Amino acid sequence: MAEERIVSAENTDFAEASIEKTLRPQVLAQYIGQDRVKNELTVYIAAAKKREESLDHVLLYGPPGLGKTTLAMVIANELQVQIRTTSGPAIERPGDLVAILNELQPGDVLFIDEIHRLPKIVEELLYSAMEDFYIDIIVGQGPTAHPVHFPLPPFTLIGATTRAGLLSAPLRDRFGIVEHMAYYEEADLVDIVERSAGVFNMAIVPDGALEIARRSRGTPRIANRLLKRIRDYAQVADQAAIDQPIADHALKQLQIDIRGLDSIDRKILKMMIDYYQGGPVGLKTIAANIGEEIETVEEVYEPYLLQIGFLKRTPRGRVVTLAAYTHLGLPYPEN
Ligand SMILES: Nc1ncnc2c1ncn2[C@@H]1O[C@H](COP(=O)(O)OP(=O)(O)OP(=O)(O)O)[C@@H](O)[C@H]1O
Ligand SMILES: [Mg+2]
Repeated sequence: MAEERIVSAENTDFAEASIEKTLRPQVLAQYIGQDRVKNELTVYIAAAKKREESLDHVLLYGPPGLGKTTLAMVIANELQVQIRTTSGPAIERPGDLVAILNELQPGDVLFIDEIHRLPKIVEELLYSAMEDFYIDIIVGQGPTAHPVHFPLPPFTLIGATTRAGLLSAPLRDRFGIVEHMAYYEEADLVDIVERSAGVFNMAIVPDGALEIARRSRGTPRIANRLLKRIRDYAQVADQAAIDQPIADHALKQLQIDIRGLDSIDRKILKMMIDYYQGGPVGLKTIAANIGEEIETVEEVYEPYLLQIGFLKRTPRGRVVTLAAYTHLGLPYPEN
């Protein structure tokens, strides 16, 4: 299951969440990688500060664990404003939104995680809040019901989502700044691993960091998690620093291969090869074969396999590529 998967990009564990807090970069200069996003934001933030206005609303979208929440906090720090964080499913009623907006000071950041999961009535209230900084709601019921006009301080909404496609057009259009977060380059992950090792007060040599980076699926959250696991192996082995052999040994024990695939990834590929000649196989069939929900396959397992070119999307389903056969050491079928 996704919760127990070491290479899951999602964060479901409370202890991990608290460790992540200590690992979070605070300012843009500490935020590693995502150069295009950083360069753009640097300009927008500087301009907003110069004009003494609130920053335009920002939409951050991309796969889990790439640093959306972290970036939202960095943006608030750079703007030197307070950040209030909440999530789409947590704002159940219009009144919840009014209460949150009511607490904001001029220029503050409101961060809404999983913004694609906002209830429709709340989302519709956000339109005027984002565009003109007011909300009109009906207070009371029956004959005493009356409209109330709430002016709001200018604020910056930062929305984060792993599913930009699920946002309605009117909501998406109200974000002046839309940034796509991409999987990280290997060199950036090396920097992230080294920085995290520093925070943990752990010694690591460059080829140890590289080994972790390579096997982290382009995802800082996974890199940090692997680092923590490997530290345990190094400690048990009485090794002062994490190097390539101990990283490799630990990751082998954890059944994470050199491309960062775990046993479920390999099971998916092998099942497609053994039973369906490598495809095309529909998502539904893949899900049924590994005993998972279709959405889980689509959101959790498939993105990385597509990203590294081990799976290909076709109109008739997913197909295993030559690169995946080669990786698994299996002969590629003639046609
Ligand atoms: N650019 C970065 N530089 C250094 N560390 C990073 C960076 N991005 C992310 N991290 C690390 O990865 C961890 C996960 O990042 P974060 O929680 O921001 O991801 P997320 O995109 O919000 O994930 P989710 O979609 O699950 O909410 C953070 O604790 C942080 O330590
Ligand atoms: Mg997050």
